[in-house]
Amino acid sequence: MINVVGFRYCRLGTADLEETVKFGTDMIGLETVGRENGSVYMRGDDRDHNICYFEGDPTDHTLGLELADFDALDAAESTLTTAGLDVHRGTGEEATARRCMGYINFKDPSGNSIDLTVRPFAAGRRYFPGRDAGIDEFSHIGLRVTDPREAEKFWSEVFNFKTSDWIGWSALMTFDEVHHRFALFPSDRPGIQHINFQVSETDDVMRSNYFLRDHQVRIQAGPGRHSLSGARFLYFYGPDEMIYEYSCGVRMVDDTWRARQFPVNDASFCAWGSKPDLSVLEGPDAAE
Ligand SMILES: [Fe+2]
Repeated sequence: MINVVGFRYCRLGTADLEETVKFGTDMIGLETVGRENGSVYMRGDDRDHNICYFEGDPTDHTLGLELADFDALDAAESTLTTAGLDVHRGTGEEATARRCMGYINFKDPSGNSIDLTVRPFAAGRRYFPGRDAGIDEFSHIGLRVTDPREAEKFWSEVFNFKTSDWIGWSALMTFDEVHHRFALFPSDRPGIQHINFQVSETDDVMRSNYFLRDHQVRIQAGPGRHSLSGARFLYFYGPDEMIYEYSCGVRMVDDTWRARQFPVNDASFCAWGSKPDLSVLEGPDAAE
């Protein structure tokens, strides 16, 4: 089993790098920490970066996870190769671009590009926000999967992810005490479906709700309270139709936690009564 010990970064292609960086700074509240070779590194916490945007295909997404050390990286490479997956060992130059000392890349059964990094860089300076959105940290992603049951099996058998709850066929999974690091979304293609930043309190969610509406940012869902994780949330669209989320108060789980199945309905998505677009949770036929 491959043990993930950290949740690190997204690498996202974008059609208009400057527009995306401006949105990240002025709307999301991220800090630009570096620009090089057509890439811009941004963050919402004290890690080196959380998102690396590059001018390119907006469907080109990679998620960066962290392993404990180089022995774990070598073991992961052989586990994935034995499982029949193609594994690319990053060059020194590629590792530098990912702000880590070493990594491998592979595609999960849905075709999601995943970097497994070792010794990703810490930052010597604290996060200084582009605007005061109250962001504490980059916390989870929605991950598109083409067969949710196969994806859940892969991440829980090959990796140390555990399912905390289900809504329909979507598994909310984690490798640590945070209720979810992945929300698997049934889809006809791979990719990152949304990017979550935790904010300090409900007031931050509500302040951003009014701020973003005032700035004509398209709200996707919320403000609301997730029935599964207990988190207060707001989802909104950025450039390239990428969905970003602020939330606070996510539930913690431990080894005694037993996953619960929720049906796909408004009440499972939001305990307060906001009306989400539930079509994102309706699984493909493969799940039935
Ligand atoms: Fe989320």
